Amino acid sequence: MKFLVTGSNGQLGFELVRTLTPLGEIAATDRRTLDLSRPETIAPAIRELKPDVILNAAAYTAVDLAESEPVAATMVNATAPGILADEAKRSGALLVHYSTDYVFDGTKTGPYTEDDTPNPLSVYGRTKWEGEQAIQASGCDHLILRTSWVYGPRGKNFLLTILRLAREKPLLKIVNDQIGAPTSTQTLAEATTHILRQWQPRQSGLFHLTASGHTSWHGFAKLIVDLAGPPYPGVEPIPTSEYRTAARRPLNSRLDCNKVSAQFGLQLPDWEQAARGVIAQLLASTPRPT
Ligand SMILES: NC(=O)c1ccc[n+]([C@@H]2O[C@H](COP(=O)([O-])OP(=O)(O)OC[C@H]3O[C@@H](n4cnc5c(N)ncnc54)[C@H](OP(=O)(O)O)[C@@H]3O)[C@@H](O)[C@H]2O)c1
Repeated sequence: MKFLVTGSNGQLGFELVRTLTPLGEIAATDRRTLDLSRPETIAPAIRELKPDVILNAAAYTAVDLAESEPVAATMVNATAPGILADEAKRSGALLVHYSTDYVFDGTKTGPYTEDDTPNPLSVYGRTKWEGEQAIQASGCDHLILRTSWVYGPRGKNFLLTILRLAREKPLLKIVNDQIGAPTSTQTLAEATTHILRQWQPRQSGLFHLTASGHTSWHGFAKLIVDLAGPPYPGVEPIPTSEYRTAARRPLNSRLDCNKVSAQFGLQLPDWEQAARGVIAQLLASTPRPT
């Protein structure tokens, strides 16, 4: 088996490479070796590498910046996945692609299922939805895995930001009216591997894949601060209306994961248990300031 991973320097791409290594040969590509903003380079690269499975972990993920860079976001999040899908169709490869809770507007009461119609509030969400549609239209074997609130021990994410701010500031003001499931890169990479081990061609489709349970950004920040130890900054809940950002985010980001659990026999970990594990690992490997 040969796996091609795009965005292998990103938080998920890095973890995928690590987790998939026992399963076969890995071609780990990054922006330097496979630039998804240069569409003309994508097909030749895929034809040269000849992967059995393409895992697209690259994305334009700067949610606020995307509002002023819609062309760049569209290229990476919509055009490039379409080309990867066409190449997968041509060669018979499987395309595993990651998408986002931000395809929804967050107005639903209760978790979103795969049958709910997206209505993105942001350029990022719209371009990610367009990427999903391009893959579905290609007719290639595919798994589109929609996830939420991704964090891990490296890269840019909420967990690492709060750990840093907890050392720098006496008070953190964090929104408490956006809810979702923080999902670790380890959970995603292990679930992807589990799915790949048993995947059959007829199982192509769109699946929601997050940790189980849910919290708010405030709840997630409280857990991080409590586990990080002293000095304990205050963590004040604020509404989204008091935290201005260029892009609008859905208030309800909960995704129903029953379909992926049933189809692939997956037991998804509770978000808090998984987060406690990652935070403990990080604290153990980072010397505390004296
Ligand atoms: N982060 C979240 O909270 C979240 C939530 C839901 C879904 N997702 C989805 O999960 C997937 C993985 O996200 P992540 O959190 O791992 O993102 P990430 O850490 O931002 O990684 C994205 C990777 O894509 C690469 N990339 C960007 N533009 C590229 C280009 N033109 N050519 C090649 N590579 C390019 C980046 O490279 P550079 O490092 O060089 O910029 C980076 O390595 C994405 O599909 C994302 O939409 C993420």
